Amino acid sequence: MTLIHLKTSYLEKFVHSQEAEQMRPLVEAANQELREGTGVGHDFRGWLDLPANYDHDEFKRIQAAAAKIKADSDVLICIGIGGSYLGAQAAIEFLHSSFPLQSNLPEVVFCGNSLSGTYLHDLITWLGDRDFSLNVISKSGTTTETSIAFRILKRLLVKKYGEKGAAERVYATTDRERGALKTEADAAGYECFVIPDDLGGRFSVLSAVGLLPIAVAGGDIEALMQGAAEARRDYADLSLTDSPYAYAVMRNILYRKGFVTELLENFEPNLRMLGEWWKQLMGESEGKDEKGIFPASANLTTDLHSLGQYIQQGRRNLMETMLWVKHPAADQTIPADAENLDQLNFLAGKTMNYVNEQAFQGVVLAHTDGGVPVMTLELPDTSEQTLGYVIYFFELAVGISGYLNGINPFNQPGVEAYKRNMFGLLGKPGYEDLHADLQKRLQD
Ligand code: PA5
Repeated sequence: MTLIHLKTSYLEKFVHSQEAEQMRPLVEAANQELREGTGVGHDFRGWLDLPANYDHDEFKRIQAAAAKIKADSDVLICIGIGGSYLGAQAAIEFLHSSFPLQSNLPEVVFCGNSLSGTYLHDLITWLGDRDFSLNVISKSGTTTETSIAFRILKRLLVKKYGEKGAAERVYATTDRERGALKTEADAAGYECFVIPDDLGGRFSVLSAVGLLPIAVAGGDIEALMQGAAEARRDYADLSLTDSPYAYAVMRNILYRKGFVTELLENFEPNLRMLGEWWKQLMGESEGKDEKGIFPASANLTTDLHSLGQYIQQGRRNLMETMLWVKHPAADQTIPADAENLDQLNFLAGKTMNYVNEQAFQGVVLAHTDGGVPVMTLELPDTSEQTLGYVIYFFELAVGISGYLNGINPFNQPGVEAYKRNMFGLLGKPGYEDLHADLQKRLQD
């Protein structure tokens, strides 16, 4: 019995049962390649066994660092981009209320994920004179967005606490031995955490990349790892129909029929960032060699009042995967009203979760009738255990899905193109020819 439940029965009118059956040998081959390390990109499969094989000594250091930050900081600023922040922010939102409730915990905020000077200025203004620490996260150690934000915030930290005090408040999560950040961290004496060589950024949330910020925000990282370990055990069994394998199969069948965009949707605002994390995981893994499902996300019922029209009746190239939380963290009962001017008394005594569930079921059927294939994934709750399980579900699904679609799901060669151009335009040493070429193209 798995913790989360994939429902594919709404796909009946889009996928015939024999189509899924015919994919079976392909899934078995993909699974074998993945598990035996014979497929492309096999050096980056560390996530597959991470929930069982993580570094327990480092895990204790993460817990100790989190305790120190909780004791000496009002704010933890996480600096990183892409895989170096999305998972942590998604997890913190997933596990916590949309509003700050536990005033005894530091606020965890994120930056270095854009080049907006306004954003960083506003963050520094908001920070004011509060005590803070920095967690700078970069696998390469050379990412421009991250490096700029770190340089600016480090200066602020030194001004406030002096060189030595500042060094005790910087936590660097980076490569074990390579990169500018590692060199600087060693020279300055920052506490370092490792992003293992065999983990791509988008698969790194269950390493120190995600664990330190999540722990500082009050998340139970042991339960998180246990949830992922449980999924790893459950999904060792390829015979499960309710699984990442079934998800990978269905989305690939649909993709080949022209459903080229997948929307991951939620009905709880605290799952919004999970959609952002998922978009990177799927998009960066699958969008290559001129193919791949385009990953998008929507927050319901909010976006039914903006995107709903398009989904219901627009171009028929969409599929949807809807996340449904069976037991959300809290609820509200709708009161009776003697005057009933808003005509809501037919709902008096019902809860908002009940109404949300009717909306969920109604939208599944409406979109199916409108020609949009829908899968649902039911989560029991928004606990750490469930989150770990869900993370592993999608990581495994994208590994299988990538191999089914004949691409390397573990590299990201396309991410470099804009970086090269940016370095050229900024005049970074070594990029002089590119600088001249790009300037000419822009002037033309
Ligand atoms: O998944 C990836 O590899 C990327 O999105 C990276 O996470 C992102 O570019 C940040 O890279 P780095 O951690 O090296 O700073």
